[in-house]
Amino acid sequence: MRAMRMHGYGGPDVIHDDEVAQPVPGPGEVLLRVAATTFNPSEAGLRRGLLRSIVPVDLPYTMGLDVAGTVAAAASSELAAGSSGLAVGDRVIGRLDGRAAADFAVAPENVLVRVPPEVDLADAAALPIAGLTAWQAVFEHAGVTAGQRVLINGTGAIGRFAAQLARHAGAEVVVASRSRGDVAGRFDAVLHLVPAPPRHAPLIRPGGVLVSVTTPADQLPAGDFRAVHFIVRNDTADLAAMLELVASGEVTIDIAGRRPLTDLAAVHAAAETGGLPGKTLLLPSRP
Ligand SMILES: NC(=O)c1ccc[n+]([C@@H]2O[C@H](COP(=O)([O-])OP(=O)(O)OC[C@H]3O[C@@H](n4cnc5c(N)ncnc54)[C@H](OP(=O)(O)O)[C@@H]3O)[C@@H](O)[C@H]2O)c1
Repeated sequence: MRAMRMHGYGGPDVIHDDEVAQPVPGPGEVLLRVAATTFNPSEAGLRRGLLRSIVPVDLPYTMGLDVAGTVAAAASSELAAGSSGLAVGDRVIGRLDGRAAADFAVAPENVLVRVPPEVDLADAAALPIAGLTAWQAVFEHAGVTAGQRVLINGTGAIGRFAAQLARHAGAEVVVASRSRGDVAGRFDAVLHLVPAPPRHAPLIRPGGVLVSVTTPADQLPAGDFRAVHFIVRNDTADLAAMLELVASGEVTIDIAGRRPLTDLAAVHAAAETGGLPGKTLLLPSRP
């Protein structure tokens, strides 16, 4: 099968299109026929070696953190015993530690969530990282409730989900971006979702909150508000709740681009020059 593997740390050309053996699921794992993986900005940092101390990987490393796919097999002993909670043919998504940028990927069952029939399987690959980050920013860290004024700084993948979720919570949402920076008024919550220093802190009401997914906590401005930086947590309950909102049409998944999996290095190269905001899907080709 095909796997897009990183053979060293460096520029996009460290990513190779390799022919490798199909992986075999072990206990508690299933084999997925991959419908899509995505590009996440953190994967460019991983590729450059910037995350080596936090996320050590063995080289060559099969890329791809978000996965959407169909269960193709479970560990043979579990299938025989009927103990696998998932069945062959189930449509699932989840967050992996790599391995999704391939025709098939092995995944622990306990990180996977079934995708409702109303939701496009490949598009749902946008949810495990960007969707979950937005969900946890809005509900867990900002605690957005009806009637609040919320500023979403960022119109990328996370920003688009966060704006929809905050509206769904009943908040009045204002969106800021590089091209729309002239924001007025005071806000109960500012969600800072871009890789740049936060500049909207002066607009936060006393007792409000600044939530950042980029600027670390020790670099956030101080004031009469709470300031939080967080790293997204892999949470299947949050992911299932988000999928329900997508299935009911209350949240839409915006896809910026759909590319063949073999374009992964080119997608990384485009992101290097800032030309890839929003969620890009990478799709294995099917015979
Ligand atoms: N803490 C966590 O757990 C976590 C999880 C996932 C992602 N992240 C981080 O969150 C950030 C957003 O992720 P994403 O998936 O939404 O990315 P994305 O889709 O690529 O969007 C990035 C957004 O940032 C804006 N931007 C880029 N450079 C900027 C700059 N110098 N000044 C102002 N705005 C800038 C872009 O604006 P334009 O449209 O104007 O280019 C775009 O709206 C990334 O830095 C990512 O690494 C953190």
